[in-house]
Amino acid sequence: MLRAVLLGPPGAGKGTQAAKIVDKYHVPHISTGDIFRANIKNQTELGKKAKTYMDQGQLVPDELVCDLVTDRISQDDCENGFLLDGFPRTIFQAEKLDEFLKENGAALTVVLNFNVGKEALIERLTGRRVCKDCGASYHIVNIPPKQEGICDRCGGPLIQRADDNRETVENRINVYEEQTAPLIGYYREQGTLADFDGEQPQDEIFRAIVEAIEAK
Ligand code: AP5
Ligand code: MG
Repeated sequence: MLRAVLLGPPGAGKGTQAAKIVDKYHVPHISTGDIFRANIKNQTELGKKAKTYMDQGQLVPDELVCDLVTDRISQDDCENGFLLDGFPRTIFQAEKLDEFLKENGAALTVVLNFNVGKEALIERLTGRRVCKDCGASYHIVNIPPKQEGICDRCGGPLIQRADDNRETVENRINVYEEQTAPLIGYYREQGTLADFDGEQPQDEIFRAIVEAIEAK
C-alpha cells in the first residue's frame, strides 16, 4: 500500500517523478494543478475561479482544494493507495488531509521532498514546453523534442503553460517559500519525510525514491 505525497517547489520535478512512480506502483496520480488545468480547459465554474489565482502564481484558496482532493481519494481506485502531486500546499491542507485519513483508519506512507535551487527552477520552468494533448514535458535546451514544437510521444502541439513566464515563475517560488516550505518541518516531525536532491539526473532520483519507498 502506497499513500504518498510529492512535495517541492515549482519545477522541482514532481510531475516527472510521478510518471515513473505510477508506472512502477500502479497507484492513481492525483495532481491538483492538472485537475485545475483540465477545469480551465473545460471552462467549468471551478476552472474560472482557479484561473485568476493560477495566472498570478498564487495558491487557489484552501476551500476550493480540500474537498476536491478528499472526494478524489475516496474513489474506489484509491483503495490501494494514491500519489498526491502538488497537494497539500499549506499547513491547513496538510492538517485536513491527516484528519481525513485518520477518520478512515489510514495514514500517509511517505512524503517525497525534492530540493532544487532557485536558479535551476527558473531555468527549468521558463524553458519548459508541454504537450497540449498528452501532457508530456520537454525543455527547449535540456530535453528538446525531436521536431521543434511537436510531441515525440503523440505528435500533439507543444505549448508553454500560462504560468511559466518569468514573472509568474518568480511569484510561484515566493509563494512556495512562504506557504508550502513549512510543510517540510511538519512532515519531518511526523516522521514521514524523505529528502531528495532534485538536481540529480532524473533516473538517479527515481532510484533513491524506490529505495525510500521500499524502506517504509
Ligand atoms: P502545479 O501544476 O502543481 O505546478 P507547480 O507546483 O508549480 O509545479 P510544476 O508542475 O511547475 O513543476 P513540477 O515539480 O511538476 O516539475 P516537472 O516535473 O514538470 O500547480 C500549478 C498552480 O495550481 C499553482 O501555482 C496553484 O495556483 C494551483 N494549485 C495546484 N495545487 C494547489 C493546491 N494544493 N493548493 C492551492 N493551489 C494549488 O519538471 C519541471 C521541468 O524540469 C521540466 O521541464 C522537466 O523536464 C525538468 N526536470 C525534471 N526533473 C529534472 C531533473 N532531475 N533534471 C533536470 N531537469 C528536470
Ligand atoms: Mg507538475
